[in-house]
Amino acid sequence: MKLSQRLLTIASFIKEGAVVADIGADHGLLSMYLVENKIAKKVFAVENKPGPFSILENNTKKYPEITISFSDGISEIPDDVDTVVIAGMGGILISNILLKNKDKLDHVKFIVIDAHRDLDVVRKTLQDLGYEFEKEALVLGAVFYNVISVRRGKSKLQPLELEFGFNIKQDPLFEEYKNHLLKQYERNYQMNNSNELKEKIERLKQL
Ligand SMILES: C[S@@+](CC[C@H](N)C(=O)[O-])C[C@H]1O[C@@H](n2cnc3c(N)ncnc32)[C@H](O)[C@@H]1O
Repeated sequence: MKLSQRLLTIASFIKEGAVVADIGADHGLLSMYLVENKIAKKVFAVENKPGPFSILENNTKKYPEITISFSDGISEIPDDVDTVVIAGMGGILISNILLKNKDKLDHVKFIVIDAHRDLDVVRKTLQDLGYEFEKEALVLGAVFYNVISVRRGKSKLQPLELEFGFNIKQDPLFEEYKNHLLKQYERNYQMNNSNELKEKIERLKQL
């Protein structure tokens, strides 16, 4: 099975022997990779749309380690799940999924996130839910992706770290990412002269 660099990075952030809930599993690519490569002991693959769910059901038939669930977010995850993965969605949706059923996180030691926007919102939510930042990596595919992993613990990120990442400057792709963001913000600023964007550009330049 050939996985994108983004999904491979997510998989590399998952501890061997984990019991994983793959939220928004879509066709099950990540779930299947995790059990095929013996990274996860078991996967609880969750999808809430009928189309992707029926493909997920078909694709994962021959994997006894994968249990599929047609449900919303983390609402139905079993108590033995120790790792939650939520990838390929916006940060506000991911935050809402976590906050809506936060009691379900009582047994969850690790969370791996790939949010395609509003990363500051996700970082703040993870911190407020009692997680500390473990790893973060930039991946360059069709766009830049930012993969985050957290574990149970306290953290108090500085505003710039919440906005752009806790160890982003160490990432080999940092300069390229920063230039990409600067261009994007400056383009948006030309169309919409908002103070918010101007301040964002200034903060980014400080990095
Ligand atoms: C863009 S796909 C990403 C698939 C895969 N996780 C990845 O990263 O490649 C997002 C998937 O999440 C599903 N999804 C969105 N909100 C969800 C929710 N609240 N509960 C379960 N699945 C959800 C969508 O139906 C879609 O299949």
